[in-house]
Amino acid sequence: MSLSTKHLLGIKDLLREDIEVILQTATQFKDVLQRPVKKVPSLRDVTIVNLFFENSTRTRISFELAEKRLSADTINFTASGSSVSKGETLLDTVNNILSMKVDMVVMRHSASGAPHFLARHIPAAIVNAGDGINEHPTQGLLDAFSIQQATGGLQGRRVAIIGDIMHSRVALSNIYLLRKMGAEITVSGPPTLIPKYIEEALGVKVEYNLKKALAWCDVANVLRIQLERQNQVLFSSLREYNLSYGVKRSVLDELKKEIVIMHPGPINRGVELDSDVADSGHSIILNQVENGVAVRMAVLYLLAGRTQ
Ligand code: CP
Repeated sequence: MSLSTKHLLGIKDLLREDIEVILQTATQFKDVLQRPVKKVPSLRDVTIVNLFFENSTRTRISFELAEKRLSADTINFTASGSSVSKGETLLDTVNNILSMKVDMVVMRHSASGAPHFLARHIPAAIVNAGDGINEHPTQGLLDAFSIQQATGGLQGRRVAIIGDIMHSRVALSNIYLLRKMGAEITVSGPPTLIPKYIEEALGVKVEYNLKKALAWCDVANVLRIQLERQNQVLFSSLREYNLSYGVKRSVLDELKKEIVIMHPGPINRGVELDSDVADSGHSIILNQVENGVAVRMAVLYLLAGRTQ
């Protein structure tokens, strides 16, 4: 089994067959992670650098753990405390690290397109761990894997993506992936946080009424309000946002069915998601985090096959 691509830059570039291979491989690695000995020798002698130019908790730890479970040699780089603060360019930083014989690069960067730029200039395989407001492909893959595990499949599944669609790389990767796999998608949130023409451009429906979106869906993926990416005021207050678009127990209790609740993290509790939902039996948020390790093991393992 192999992928059609040398890099994982985004879901947009993947074939449906690539996604199927990654999800199947992740299922096998999830079994490995249930064993007493959770380590396999698959990436012995492969060296991977994790380049994080932007903050991360889940993605960075998840990649590091996936690499260790695969027996890869890993180097961790964070922009703070590095020579980036002295003005070194992205390409110089990466070329200096690669001269130490690195095979793969996992990179998070605040600039959309940064991993695509690197892929044009360096020989190593690149995995995008989130680039600006563009894509977060391994989050899309782990979300799809988690939906599959929680509901039995993706074909025909009704997924509502709720909140800050405008600034969300998670939303874009989820939309590309779920559409390729035959799911139906509705986005819901305030009009100021939903891009114009998204229906025509990406083949999703828009529902501005949160209760209607929740009544329609099987799965609700609730997104973080990304205040750090908003350079203008797009809603009146966090309190008002919570009243209109916060997913809360009372709203779910009005539904005549059970739905699965997801969130990529970190959660703004009491803003887009209330604690009595985030910590409830409806929520698979911590399963998403657990599944992230198996999915990232699958991605690294399959891409390493292309680098040899
Ligand atoms: N979901 C996600 O990307 O979380 P982090 O920013 O903590 O990596």
